Amino acid sequence: MQPIANTQQAQAWNGPEGAYWADHYDRFDGLNGGFDDALFTAAAINERDHVLDIGCGVGQTTRRAARQATSGQAVGIDISAPMLERARAVTAVEGVTNAVFEQGDAQVHPFPSGGSDVVISRGGVMFFADHAAAFTNIGRALRPGGRLTFICPQMPDPHGESAQAFAPVNALMRESSPAARGMMSLSDPAHVHDVLTAAGFADVTTRSVEGPVRWGRDAGDAADFFFAMSPVRFNLDSVPEQVTAKAREQVTAALRRYETPEGVRLRGAVWLVAATRP
Ligand SMILES: C[S@@+](CC[C@H](N)C(=O)[O-])C[C@H]1O[C@@H](n2cnc3c(N)ncnc32)[C@H](O)[C@@H]1O
Repeated sequence: MQPIANTQQAQAWNGPEGAYWADHYDRFDGLNGGFDDALFTAAAINERDHVLDIGCGVGQTTRRAARQATSGQAVGIDISAPMLERARAVTAVEGVTNAVFEQGDAQVHPFPSGGSDVVISRGGVMFFADHAAAFTNIGRALRPGGRLTFICPQMPDPHGESAQAFAPVNALMRESSPAARGMMSLSDPAHVHDVLTAAGFADVTTRSVEGPVRWGRDAGDAADFFFAMSPVRFNLDSVPEQVTAKAREQVTAALRRYETPEGVRLRGAVWLVAATRP
């Protein structure tokens, strides 16, 4: 058994929230995949690289890294058994043979020292109780001169498309669901800089990257997914049914403005963070 420091997160991502994500991973890839090109351009993975993907989930980014590192390897690490089970199954179906997955808490996982050339993460590094300890441990996994590149959420823009479309529900949200706790912990670039510097990284940069967030085929499908997501259900469980029904109508109507031939797409923005191990 590998060591676990983040027991609350381990429980949450191994419970119903992790299982829901694993069962609907293609929908979550639609939400997050619009930022992949920026992540992979910054990571500049070459064919011989050994890549480590932190909080890899169902592993879409691990597989893309493995496809780029044709003579190397990509290792995805995640704390969630249901996510990894799905990651291995999808990877086998897609025929990617140089991607492997390990279960562990990246804050304390005994990574081979200096074994990776590149560390990437698409939204898998915000959930650590002790950021400095976690990024120090992740830094140890990198060889000297190795690169860390990840994306993480920004604080929601109150005038952005998501805020506008989901405003009727946002007013009903009281607190984060168990798996979402920590989601916004790296949303301040100054904090990211301090944490990574304290963890021994150099050349820390953070820049805003915009991309499309794909919610569904049409407004109805997008609203169905939004209202089924664990963080939303967690908050609406105690809200009277007619209030939820009204909010759902309003959200569906608002999402119609964003229907395109490729489905419902809202503009989103994340932080793209890069750093090196001296
Ligand atoms: C927001 S999801 C992102 C998943 C994936 N990177 C993607 O883009 O689809 C966050 C992931 O981080 C994982 N996670 C949370 N805390 C972790 C930890 N301490 N160590 C490793 N993985 C962790 C969760 O299990 C989950 O799969």
